[in-house]
Amino acid sequence: MSTMDLAVIGGSGLYNFPGLENATRHAVDTPYGAASGEVVMGDFAGKRIAFLARHGESHTLPPHRVNYRANLWALHSLGARRVIGVNAVGGIRSDMGPRVIVVPDQLIDYTHGRYTSYCDVEGAEVKHIDFSEPYTGSLRQQLLAAAGKADVAVIDGGCYGATQGPRLETRAEIARMKRDGCDLVGMTGMPEAALARELALEYACLALVANFAAGCGDEAEISIEEIFAHLAAATTEVPRILAAMLKS
Ligand code: HPA
Repeated sequence: MSTMDLAVIGGSGLYNFPGLENATRHAVDTPYGAASGEVVMGDFAGKRIAFLARHGESHTLPPHRVNYRANLWALHSLGARRVIGVNAVGGIRSDMGPRVIVVPDQLIDYTHGRYTSYCDVEGAEVKHIDFSEPYTGSLRQQLLAAAGKADVAVIDGGCYGATQGPRLETRAEIARMKRDGCDLVGMTGMPEAALARELALEYACLALVANFAAGCGDEAEISIEEIFAHLAAATTEVPRILAAMLKS
């Protein structure tokens, strides 16, 4: 039986989980290589949770170099069954401006050259997972209900477009993504979501809008300083939402 109630993968701006008590650190050896860092397990809101900084605790890994397979494998091997991915994003939809929090319900993958599956290892069983709904519906509902309880405004639903990065997108790329139906753009949502499904983990995304995507706001250019300032503000809401979820 799992003794871990929730695992959280922190994105840009979330490198450690505030308020974790009785923390233990776990360096997990995986068949896929090293995870982004040690998994920190600790008590939060009366429950045991695990935290992993997706880019490393000092943000040394760019999105295309994150070992997504090792990260999810490490969390799974420590007993995780429910995983929340916290992701910084740019907003494409006009109501998804800086500091808005979204629980997306769909995604489109524009990434390339990443390991996208556990079955591209010699001898592995070939699995064709159903991915019609890329996020676990019940976990999304728990997040939405918790946000309501914690009095944090979140938008229910939206399509996350995952780009390769690490550069931001051109205006033409964002215009194309908008035509495709994307509401948000980020660099780390895939292959994380698909790998979680391959491991039969429950998985949902908490997307923190840091900026309007290229061509969607008033600015001629996107400032990285501004991105991190907005992210810092939105990130403070994450433990509040998760505390409400764990207490329910
Ligand atoms: N594009 C891609 N990823 C992002 C952005 C963006 O504008 N902002 C934060 N993460």
